[in-house]
Amino acid sequence: MIRAHNTARKWQAVKDHVEEGMLRIHESEKLWNHTYTEQLESKLKTASGRKYALTCASGSHAISIGLLANGIVPGDKVIVPNYSCPATLSSVVVIGCVPVFCEIDQHGMIDTDLLPELDVSGVKAVLATGLYGDVHNHDAIKNFCDANDLLYVNDAAQSQFALFNGEDSLALGDVVCMSFADNKPLPVAGTYGAILTDSDEAYQRIRSLRKNGKPTRLEPYSVAGFSSQPEEGKALQVLASWQHFDKWQERKKQISEYYIETFKDKINVRPSPRYSQTNHHKFAIMVADKFESYKKMLELGVETEQQLRGQLLQTTMDGGQHQAIRHDRQIHTTVIDHPKQSVHDRLGSGNCQQSDNK
Ligand SMILES: Cc1ncc(COP(=O)(O)O)c(C=O)c1O
Repeated sequence: MIRAHNTARKWQAVKDHVEEGMLRIHESEKLWNHTYTEQLESKLKTASGRKYALTCASGSHAISIGLLANGIVPGDKVIVPNYSCPATLSSVVVIGCVPVFCEIDQHGMIDTDLLPELDVSGVKAVLATGLYGDVHNHDAIKNFCDANDLLYVNDAAQSQFALFNGEDSLALGDVVCMSFADNKPLPVAGTYGAILTDSDEAYQRIRSLRKNGKPTRLEPYSVAGFSSQPEEGKALQVLASWQHFDKWQERKKQISEYYIETFKDKINVRPSPRYSQTNHHKFAIMVADKFESYKKMLELGVETEQQLRGQLLQTTMDGGQHQAIRHDRQIHTTVIDHPKQSVHDRLGSGNCQQSDNK
């Protein structure tokens, strides 16, 4: 059976590093915001070229905190894609902001040609999400934000380290939100997050917002915030994964190339935009019925994930306010995720159909 996840294999790779680090953390009794956090935040700053990198509990918290830290308040409208994972919408709505949906393009990201059609009264920010490992159309989003004086939030949970016309996704936008969930390029067991910014003001607010409004014992409460302070154990896990990043990326690339070649003229593969160089986060194929295909592929011994099970537009999360603004491109209701990492060891034999990946 080819499985969609490979947590057990990843654990083998990071085990020694994590076990040794956990011992150190417990013996030192420094559980929060200490050496591993400093190392990770410093690496993130170097990798992104950003002035500040602040880790937090999840990619979802990174979005909510990133918005609040930049002066977005409950009642403000935020443009979001009408198709993404639940976190994209939920992290906006949970802080009292009102989503304004924009249709997606054939790549699965905000269709920037449609942005001018939206009513921007009351809109304060755009949350642009790169899906499947590709970057959204950054130039067009940036121009739109500049023209309308909007905050540009880059939800790079899936697009981190992908390139937009040669530039790393982590360098794009006023604020960048990262996730280190177990299916992301730098995975932990569970999830973790980071916020990147160049703004001194946002940096100070994030310090408070991620620690219940009180960045350190000696500083006063300044704002109501989240329980999202940096955990040493999670920072350690990201650092452990980072040691394997280049190797894992190279392997994902090889497997993606193998799929592209093998599927040619047989299976419809989601197109990557010309401006994006993917990080190979996911390999999505287009099928007529993702639920049917899931069953059929499982019978053939290939476990896949249906992407995504529900359109954000069909949620009730925003109290039905989405009804006013909608387009109807259904293209991505038919995407299946392909388990590219789990065929990892088998491709040498050139036949993933017969693999038995335990
Ligand atoms: C595009 C996108 N945004 C945000 C998130 C939220 O990240 P987390 O699971 O760390 O909260 C995810 C995670 O799957 C994601 O894929």
